[in-house]
Amino acid sequence: MSLLDDEALWRSSVVANCAMNRERGLASYSRELGIELALKSGMRWVDLCCGTGKALAEAAREDVTIIGVDLVDHHVAARPGLSFVVAPVDEWEPDALVDLVTCVHGLHYVGDKLGLLERAASWLAPGGRLVANFDVAGVRRADGTPFGRALTKALRDNGFVYDNRNRRISFTGEGQPQLPFTYLGADDKAGPNYTGQPAVHSCYEL
Ligand SMILES: C[S@@+](CC[C@H](N)C(=O)[O-])C[C@H]1O[C@@H](n2cnc3c(N)ncnc32)[C@H](O)[C@@H]1O
Repeated sequence: MSLLDDEALWRSSVVANCAMNRERGLASYSRELGIELALKSGMRWVDLCCGTGKALAEAAREDVTIIGVDLVDHHVAARPGLSFVVAPVDEWEPDALVDLVTCVHGLHYVGDKLGLLERAASWLAPGGRLVANFDVAGVRRADGTPFGRALTKALRDNGFVYDNRNRRISFTGEGQPQLPFTYLGADDKAGPNYTGQPAVHSCYEL
């Protein structure tokens, strides 16, 4: 199987797919993540793969800091409390610790999914929370086979909580998880995942 590097993946039609839902609102974000998104004054929230940022705009207020990050510059207008960064989440990082990191159906398209989870967990302030939609079936060996329990155990050993039924992952900070996987590259020909949309398999060696 020939694997794509990040630059090639970002140009792939699977990642640039215009049929994917980029317009979820706040209620939909809450449902997809299984959490209530009530922001306390002073909170800092980073949303990775934010799409249009509709949910973020609904939550924005002057007394919170919300940053949406996406590869594509197709977001709603920034407003008090809300800013957007056009960048690959694989390379971006916040300039201060954050209280909440979310990624709603974005990890399916990211190359180094485990590397992003590790980095995002390390951005959390004490008591901060990372929550993302994540399917362990999207993480594979170079021959395309899934890691099964070796992956879920490594996640658990590093402080992540994986909800297999809802395909969600979470982490409560602070922490510096270090997963024992080496990223090899991405397969954009994996076909649809559980969402019904074509997704990206991320290949690693253990
Ligand atoms: C299915 S959409 C979800 C958007 C939004 N979270 C929502 O639920 O409405 C996935 C988003 O991930 C973005 N994306 C995919 N790979 C990315 C990457 N490596 N860096 C930044 N954004 C990425 C896409 O541009 C797209 O906007």
